[in-house]
Amino acid sequence: MPIEVESPEEMGYSTIQYNLAESSVHDRTIGELGMDLSNVLMNYGHHRGLPELQQAICEGSHILKSEDVLVTAGAAQALYLVATTLLNPEDHLIVVRPNYGTNLETPRGIPCEMSVIDLSFDNGFQPDIDQIQKAIRPNTKLISITHPHNPTGIFVSQSTIESLVQLSERNGFYLLIDETYRHLNFKTPLLPYFAEKSNRVISVSSLSKAFGAPGIRIGWVISRDAKLQHDLLAAKEQMIISNSVVDEYIALQIFLQKEKLLKEVHSTLQVNYQIVENWLKANDTIFEWVTPDAGAVVFPRIKESIQVDFSRFYDRLYSHYHTVVGGGHWFEQSQRYMRIGFGYPSVNEFRIGLENVMSCVMDCKMN
Ligand SMILES: Cc1ncc(COP(=O)(O)O)c(C=O)c1O
Repeated sequence: MPIEVESPEEMGYSTIQYNLAESSVHDRTIGELGMDLSNVLMNYGHHRGLPELQQAICEGSHILKSEDVLVTAGAAQALYLVATTLLNPEDHLIVVRPNYGTNLETPRGIPCEMSVIDLSFDNGFQPDIDQIQKAIRPNTKLISITHPHNPTGIFVSQSTIESLVQLSERNGFYLLIDETYRHLNFKTPLLPYFAEKSNRVISVSSLSKAFGAPGIRIGWVISRDAKLQHDLLAAKEQMIISNSVVDEYIALQIFLQKEKLLKEVHSTLQVNYQIVENWLKANDTIFEWVTPDAGAVVFPRIKESIQVDFSRFYDRLYSHYHTVVGGGHWFEQSQRYMRIGFGYPSVNEFRIGLENVMSCVMDCKMN
């Protein structure tokens, strides 16, 4: 996938001065969390995850219980476990695109039958429920959506979610809702996990995006379906037996400080989102965009009427301006789109990075 080759993880973070490619907030150090790891016993951890961590993940819910939570190595592993546990070559999946790579690539690797439903800019990136309904087949096993959505930051409308839940119950398939960005709700209160709605709904999330801790590789999958939980656990045991106990300990400390950490994160997002919105408005002869509901990314596009040499644009942005955004091709979309992450850079880096994007568009504009 292009994202694997061109992402900062591959290019090297130190080679990028203005990193507008991340979909997360800035990474934290262990020191910031003020913890002492010296008494962490390096045993195998609990297979389902540290019980206090399972508890912390579903805290506040009157419906979810600890046993509905399986701790995984990031949301990426959770998604891999769900796809490989549920889908066989004779099964059919409906997946909404653009999407996070794993949600498309793991089913492709199985390979199962797959219907891709493309979101459209003109429809505000809302999934079209009629289109989804028409794609359902007798062997449909899973529908996969992301909320808040990556790369647009859009919330799938509540009415669409309700319809999808009803469809999954009526047809007996699962509805996977990738909620990896759920804690980046800088405009609205935090929604309950969608897995509360039905035992056909599977929620996936992680500490990577909102808590500045992608490197500890802690995510989780929530399902109230005991049989599915059992199968996911069996799959996890084949892969890693248990999570890193160090990662789980740090994750628990993050949960214990959750309110304070998220307060800081949300105020940074509010400031930085305003900066990018002002920038887009100032450049609205070039760009058009759909305002995100949450998350740390916006997915504007360069208007059709504007001719740009896009391969030169992305090369030059990196090599000349030391700036990176997530090109549309990372998400199987036209290179006119770019994902701009507003949670990761400092205010100063962000302002310069945005100026660089604009200068580079001008350098590569052909009309
Ligand atoms: C929608 C979505 N799901 C899952 C992941 C993987 O996250 P994690 O770092 O928790 O594995 C990402 C990372 O970019 C993502 O965007």
